[in-house]
Amino acid sequence: MTDISNDIVQQLDRQHVFHSWSTQGSLSPMVIAGGKGCRLWDYAGKEYLDFSSQLVNTNIGHQHSKVIAAIQAQAEQLTTVAPAHANLARGEAAKRILARAPAGFGKVFFTNAGADANENAMRMARAVTGRDKILSAYRSYHGNTGAAIVATGDPRRVPNEFARGHAHFFNPFLYRSDFWAGNEEEECQRALQHLKRVIECEGPSAIAAILLESIPGTAGVLIPPKGYMEGVRKLADQHGILVIFDEVMAGFGRSGKWFALEHFAAKPDLIVFAKGVNSGYVPAGGVIISDEICRHFDDHMFFGGLTYSGHPLAMASIVATLDAMSEEGVVENADRVGNGPLAAGLQQLAQQHAVVGETRGLGVFHALELVSDRATRAPLPAAEMGKIKSALIAKGLLPFVVENRIHVVPPCIVSEAEVAEGLAILDTVLGEASARLA
Ligand SMILES: Cc1ncc(COP(=O)(O)O)c(C=O)c1O
Repeated sequence: MTDISNDIVQQLDRQHVFHSWSTQGSLSPMVIAGGKGCRLWDYAGKEYLDFSSQLVNTNIGHQHSKVIAAIQAQAEQLTTVAPAHANLARGEAAKRILARAPAGFGKVFFTNAGADANENAMRMARAVTGRDKILSAYRSYHGNTGAAIVATGDPRRVPNEFARGHAHFFNPFLYRSDFWAGNEEEECQRALQHLKRVIECEGPSAIAAILLESIPGTAGVLIPPKGYMEGVRKLADQHGILVIFDEVMAGFGRSGKWFALEHFAAKPDLIVFAKGVNSGYVPAGGVIISDEICRHFDDHMFFGGLTYSGHPLAMASIVATLDAMSEEGVVENADRVGNGPLAAGLQQLAQQHAVVGETRGLGVFHALELVSDRATRAPLPAAEMGKIKSALIAKGLLPFVVENRIHVVPPCIVSEAEVAEGLAILDTVLGEASARLA
């Protein structure tokens, strides 16, 4: 093993691996050899503080010993089993997920990841209502499968629009308001009025569900204004439309609560999860189903299934992850450290550095919106974002960069000392970027 180098791993990758969302010819992927907690390292021994949680999924950190032991134990006992059979790990995983869900949710349907979980939630909504259309937000990401990518609002949808029955609406985002709003209340009311009009124009009786992220993540960590989610629920109820909350990124501790929906009074009919449920140690996702929808399927066929629905290795990792998160106070840590020193530190960076237009977030789910001009809010150009990303990585901080934003999304276990270390690197690099602007 000692003769493995970063170069060998990178060459192997470039010769044989086809990457997601990329022009293949220009890629130079970073090599990761191992990790523990909030840290990763390469074969040359260079360490990185992971402020990306990879794709915002390693909520419990890298290589948690109890989760690894549970996967190993399950592998010894039974590595795979058909979804039609009853399996202990699957039942235990579903029970634990339901224990964290709001009251009134009865069962869990397991999938391989977040996209196919959204796919199946939309299918359930269509089956229950007998309606076709799904409304979802332009500022959203719901995954890269047939209907999930078409439900997605961001531009990755456009080359992939092969599913039918989807319409979109603008969701609230005051900093870049699509409604000319001057404050959160105006943004909320105007966004709801816009949604009301979209529902009317799309035909309320044709709409099966409104699908929305509890906190849109990839779109920029957009905390919905007070009253928005409740307003969406009310509009849906007026027309017999179901509500699906996508908690794939926001769920399982990320926002400082088990589910981000706990920040609102509105309850959905279906909750979609993946990522943080087992920190991605084994691919897994699913749909948490309300009692009412469960009852519908008591005597109606569900036309859906997957060979690996409730795969035992994934299920064992969910059981161990959720138990460890409870025992170790991981969600409480995300709340305390995320809403405490992390949020305060980011506010300070926003005050100190001209390149920061806004910081927003909850728990360990934050975004720094970078601008070339605070007055016009012009997004920082891609070339400048590239320089910032390279400088952060060179200084040992692995960031999650999307468009003109740095998403600050460390694992939920991040310590105060690690937050201080990450903020110090951000401070230096944002200071250099602000100086280049001047
Ligand atoms: C909110 C949301 N939904 C769905 C997905 C898709 O999940 P997956 O990539 O596991 O299919 C993602 C992935 O980033 C997401 O952030």
